[in-house]
Amino acid sequence: MKFLIFIFLLFCHASAVIYQLNNTEYVRMPPIYHLDPYELCIYKPKGLYCSVEIDLVPDESTDEGNELMEMIREYTARSETHYNHTRLHYGICVTDMCNEYLTQNTTGSLKLVLERCLNSSFWEKYKLKTRINEDLSCNNQDQTFELEPGDIVVAVIVLGLVVLNISGIIYDFFTLKRKNREVNKLLRCFSIRRNWLKLVAPAATGNEPRLKCFKGINGLRAITIFLVITEHSLLPFVVASDNTLFYEDKYHNILYHLFLDGTIIVQTFFIISGCLLAYHLQIRSEKKDLNWILIPKGIIDRWLRLTPPYAVVLAITLTWFRFLGSGPLWEQIVNAEVRDCRGGYWLHLLYLNNYRDRSLCMTHTWYLAADMQLYIFGLLLLILVTREYARKVALSVMFVVALIIPALHTYIQNLNAYLHVSPETARFFFEMDPTFINTYKRGHTNMASYIIGLSLGLLIYRLQNEEFDIKKYRKFKYLYWACLPIGIGVILCSSLFYMDGASPPLVLRAIYSGIVKPVYGLLLSIVILGMVFKLENICRGILEWRGWTSPARVSYSAYIMHMLILKPITGTRTTLIHTTSLNIILIGVGTGILCYLIAFPFWLMVEAPLAQLVKVLIPSKDSENVKSNTKLNKINEA
Ligand SMILES: *[C@@H]1O[C@H](CO)[C@@H](O)[C@H](O)[C@H]1NC(C)=O
Ligand SMILES: *[C@@H]1O[C@H](CO)[C@@H](O)[C@H](O)[C@H]1NC(C)=O
Ligand SMILES: *[C@@H]1O[C@H](CO)[C@@H](O)[C@H](O)[C@H]1NC(C)=O
Ligand SMILES: *[C@@H]1O[C@H](CO)[C@@H](O)[C@H](O)[C@H]1NC(C)=O
Repeated sequence: MKFLIFIFLLFCHASAVIYQLNNTEYVRMPPIYHLDPYELCIYKPKGLYCSVEIDLVPDESTDEGNELMEMIREYTARSETHYNHTRLHYGICVTDMCNEYLTQNTTGSLKLVLERCLNSSFWEKYKLKTRINEDLSCNNQDQTFELEPGDIVVAVIVLGLVVLNISGIIYDFFTLKRKNREVNKLLRCFSIRRNWLKLVAPAATGNEPRLKCFKGINGLRAITIFLVITEHSLLPFVVASDNTLFYEDKYHNILYHLFLDGTIIVQTFFIISGCLLAYHLQIRSEKKDLNWILIPKGIIDRWLRLTPPYAVVLAITLTWFRFLGSGPLWEQIVNAEVRDCRGGYWLHLLYLNNYRDRSLCMTHTWYLAADMQLYIFGLLLLILVTREYARKVALSVMFVVALIIPALHTYIQNLNAYLHVSPETARFFFEMDPTFINTYKRGHTNMASYIIGLSLGLLIYRLQNEEFDIKKYRKFKYLYWACLPIGIGVILCSSLFYMDGASPPLVLRAIYSGIVKPVYGLLLSIVILGMVFKLENICRGILEWRGWTSPARVSYSAYIMHMLILKPITGTRTTLIHTTSLNIILIGVGTGILCYLIAFPFWLMVEAPLAQLVKVLIPSKDSENVKSNTKLNKINEA
């Protein structure tokens, strides 16, 4: 054993990586984040506050400080679990800290002045030199907000929505009192009362009682979106923490890995999406043959359904978002995103943004794009290949291809086995992370789960037609419950790839990256299958709870807009946050609930009215009976 440790230490030494430092040594390094008091600074006469990205550089001229620099380098080299401690983010009150430099020399640029000032203060404290990395952003008291034409256009659109909603309320009032039968189609879309009734109505099954078996998907969807938002809400702990050691240490705690490697739950949506698409198409094919005209129609219908609320959020991000606050983190968190969005917002509207790299624009919407691409893929596959045997072959062939694609990416591009949430990649929203870019967010690398979803939908349909009896399988319910611990096991497996000292061979990483998503997908399919056929009552009871229906309806709204809430929460911080487990729970759960609470009015006043407006403007023959039930029909007649 001792020998092994010796070999291990030798290995560590050889590659010059420091895995852990004790607290005494840790605090010898300059803190990664530091913010001077913000308002105390800018409200002073001539107060000037600058946010800077600082690179620590060794000073070649002397030997002093080089030992510390070496330690920082070696500690940083363990990039899987450590921040890059040579890259610091500081908010500096220039008028306080660098006043002498400011008055001494007014000819040099501000950047030079700051660099000189930081050079001397870092030299004094740590015997280290600094270089200012990017353009700095400075704030003083009299900031000017320049309105641009785009801002005004978006303001008019948003005001228009508000006016329509108010008219909707007035309309409600009159139609309620007078039992007025005459309906204004436009205003009816914006009637909050009608939309509210729709929101709280029981799960919609259309004219198709069979869809009732998918009730549990509401629970699955609401819970998964909540978890995703909760995970994203940890942003302030990554970009503005005053105890970065806490976070770096948590990579040794298995509980936190549920969070760090839990990003795989996004695959849930691909499974659900594929399953519902296949099932709906099967039901449809009973009445009419599936014909190719359904392909453009399906795509356009889906585009029209998803895009309006998304476009509203995107428009706000492009324009008014930058005025929502200010602070030492605002530039990095919000303004950088706005800049990137302006460079390619149209890609978002075409759902191609997951193929645009190094853009911070609404990073979370990669999923919407991937889902749209996979929807088109599924639609093409099922409509062009309709014979059962041919479908089996096509799905199997595509599944094998889908397994190979991410593996090839990983192998050729030397990527991680699975998206690895390291402090440094999270800090820059993953856009610098080749694994995120090449295998995590693309459409074609998420195909496997979608194909599993499609197959699941077809399987459920066939079993229902064969009057499949689950009673025989009741005894397997313990195996069924085992899916949860197995799923947790799968999530934790990803962490084995970056344990301290582990350096798994590329081939292993490639294989893992191919199979991990489908393995999760298969587990989830079993869960859905058991739920649909009522294998047991506990898990199903939880997921089919009536209370999930409304949160599930607003979950799309919650998802597209949660960053609009979260980023200002982080960007307006003027102080660092202290990371503790309780604080993490508080912020995570609180933000999750807050986003849902805001998603409700957003759904009532934006998503639902716009969806109906689209239907009024572009009537389609059968869109009515797909998504309404008897109760909804009553609401429609009211
Ligand atoms: C931390 O490590 C250094 C060097 O390894 C050692 O000198 C020091 O005593 C340690 N401090 C604590 C509190 O363990
Ligand atoms: C840390 O950041 C510096 C400066 O941006 C960069 O040159 C260096 O390569 C980074 N180190 C690691 C291990 O990523
Ligand atoms: C002021 O800064 C400029 C540009 O860096 C430099 O050329 C000049 O010598 C400086 N003057 C003094 C007095 O430091
Ligand atoms: C600060 O120190 C670094 C490293 O010695 C040097 O490259 C840089 O020019 C210095 N900046 C100023 C403004 O003196």
